[in-house]
Amino acid sequence: MTDSIRFLMCAPDYYDVDYVINPWMEGNIHKSSRERSVEQWQKLHQLIKERAVVDLVTPQRSWPDMVFTANAGLVLGKTVVLSHFFHKERQGEEAYFKEWFLSQGFIVHELPQDLPFEGAGDALLDREGRYLWAGYGFRSELDSHPLLAKWLDIEVRSLRLIDDRFYHLDTCFCPLTGGYLLYYPPAFDHYSNRLIEMGVPSEKRITVAEADAVNFACNAVNIDQTMIMSKVSENLKLRLAQVGFNIIETPLAEFLKAGGAAKCLTLRVTEPIIADRHAKVQVESRTVRMEGHLLDSGLINQALDFIVEGGGSFQVLNFALGEQRQSTSVAEVKVSAPDHEVMEEIMNQLIDIGAIVPTEDVQDAKLLPVEKNGVAPNDFYVTTIYPTEVRVNGKWVQVENQRMDGAIAITETGGNIEARCKILRDVKVGEKVVVDVVGIRTSRKTQSREKRNTEEFSFMSAGVSSERRVELVVEQVAWELRQIRDRGGKVAVTAGPVVIHTGGSQHLANLIRQGYVQGLLGGNAIAVHDIEQALMGTSLGLDMKQGVAVHGGHRHHLKTINTIRRYGSIAQAVEAGILTKGVMYECVKNNVPFSLAGSIRDDGPLPDTQMDLIKAQEEYAELLKGADMVLMLSTMLHSIGVGNMTPAGVKMVCVDINPAVVTKLSDRGSVESIGVVTDVGLFLSLLITKLEQFTSPYIKSA
Ligand code: ARG
Repeated sequence: MTDSIRFLMCAPDYYDVDYVINPWMEGNIHKSSRERSVEQWQKLHQLIKERAVVDLVTPQRSWPDMVFTANAGLVLGKTVVLSHFFHKERQGEEAYFKEWFLSQGFIVHELPQDLPFEGAGDALLDREGRYLWAGYGFRSELDSHPLLAKWLDIEVRSLRLIDDRFYHLDTCFCPLTGGYLLYYPPAFDHYSNRLIEMGVPSEKRITVAEADAVNFACNAVNIDQTMIMSKVSENLKLRLAQVGFNIIETPLAEFLKAGGAAKCLTLRVTEPIIADRHAKVQVESRTVRMEGHLLDSGLINQALDFIVEGGGSFQVLNFALGEQRQSTSVAEVKVSAPDHEVMEEIMNQLIDIGAIVPTEDVQDAKLLPVEKNGVAPNDFYVTTIYPTEVRVNGKWVQVENQRMDGAIAITETGGNIEARCKILRDVKVGEKVVVDVVGIRTSRKTQSREKRNTEEFSFMSAGVSSERRVELVVEQVAWELRQIRDRGGKVAVTAGPVVIHTGGSQHLANLIRQGYVQGLLGGNAIAVHDIEQALMGTSLGLDMKQGVAVHGGHRHHLKTINTIRRYGSIAQAVEAGILTKGVMYECVKNNVPFSLAGSIRDDGPLPDTQMDLIKAQEEYAELLKGADMVLMLSTMLHSIGVGNMTPAGVKMVCVDINPAVVTKLSDRGSVESIGVVTDVGLFLSLLITKLEQFTSPYIKSA
């Protein structure tokens, strides 16, 4: 027996499962046996007493979980950080534990009221004494970690727990003599696993499988080479024996019903201080402000989710709820992250959804010069579709040409600062590019509930949309097309060949003729099949009237291409009187500019097809400039391209028979996009019908 090792335990006089504060307690209320729990506890007590000194704290009637003394506090040397429980069900224990620590001459540190931390249940010393592993995610708050570091003068490594069965660090993580670590990796997030792997060499890491983990194999009491635990598989026993541990199993089933085992039932109160280690925390905190229809638009939830999923934690410092439906809310959120890297990631996402760093913290954006044409500095800020401003020389400058996945290039000419979104290949030596996320703000014009209800027609989620709903959406789109046309606005259409195959050609042609389309963006195929239909009555060799394959029809599209090539261009074929109808014909006749972007699979191509993709992207961007609405008709490829070039605020209507495509394209996180899962030919036919129902002097007969 070693006199120098002491443990604190608490007899199970009042132990029972009286409430549910972890998943193990579910279904176990009052299901534990008094007799057996006393017997199991005594066995454990005996085993420990044979190897160390056991101190006892007096059990208290109203506090059944007080047996789990691991949660009394965290001891190092003569200092203790008293626990402050997350659940009120255990908060009453605090006073009794405090009294005990004081009676033993400990210096007791207490956490602020709103900062939960559950003692040695969530903080474990590396047995080599180098640092403190501290858990967060369920019971203890990340913000408590800097205080642990300060009060105990030790380096803290924060680990995020993500599986609620392993709600305390000591349920899945057990540092052992000699620098070994027994743990269950899936209980931690990816980043925490990396931290563990960096902190403990692989030959010292002993991972347990789920079957052992749920038997609380990691909840072991380790005294020198001995491990006392509830239950362990033969395999794990063997592995532990191989590295010199002597395993003692003792039944603790009654305590497992409350979500605890051997280690939880004890608190090691002799933890020597190792001389050359000192406080160091990686935890960082920053405060951001958010404004808008935070609740209606779900923005606040999204922000808090980003923080937690990104591995941080938050505290809402202020939330001023907009009282009227129209009024906006303001929230101030303190974000904490286990280290700088994680903080940057989280801030990136928050800034992208419009979070603002309070003025006192605002800095100028970090700019780095472009060193090579077409290459941005590392760590350049990647743009979104949302209006963005950057702070240069103390002033906020609006970014021009907003688009997604670009870099922000800054040019200064005679004191005049310009910021512009550029795709990577366009950045030039002489420009500076914004890096990092400081000095950047984006605005999301979030809409109020009112507005969204009338404007959002996204019903892809249900899988199949009812016909009546499709009709409603089409009506809405028709109405907007009319508005845009009548005020001289701009609608761009990006369409795939399916429009032609599904019989939509005449309807799209009709839209163009009636002045509803100001730009057409497609590929070689839509033009080829449209012209094939105009010249030969087939689309990809299928007779469009009868819907049957025509003999030799598979060559039709090649003949079509050949014909147009003979005339030199689509426009010239129209001029020669060869091409007399269809989508491309109407474009030429009505001076609607089009761009056909080529691809590797193109036959021909048509003389009009732009095979230089960089040029094609430029043409697309040009046609999209100033668009009020983009209709995306059954082309995932071109629609994604278009989506990336289009800033927020432009209404996008995406029609596809495949719900996945619709989801992908209309899920831009902006309310202006509408997804319609339906046959595009049907959609267009319905659209024309609706448009014709609006009487207006503008309507020419088709
Ligand atoms: N029922 C207790 C709770 O949920 C069990 C505590 C187990 N203790 C531990 N250190 N893991 O708080």
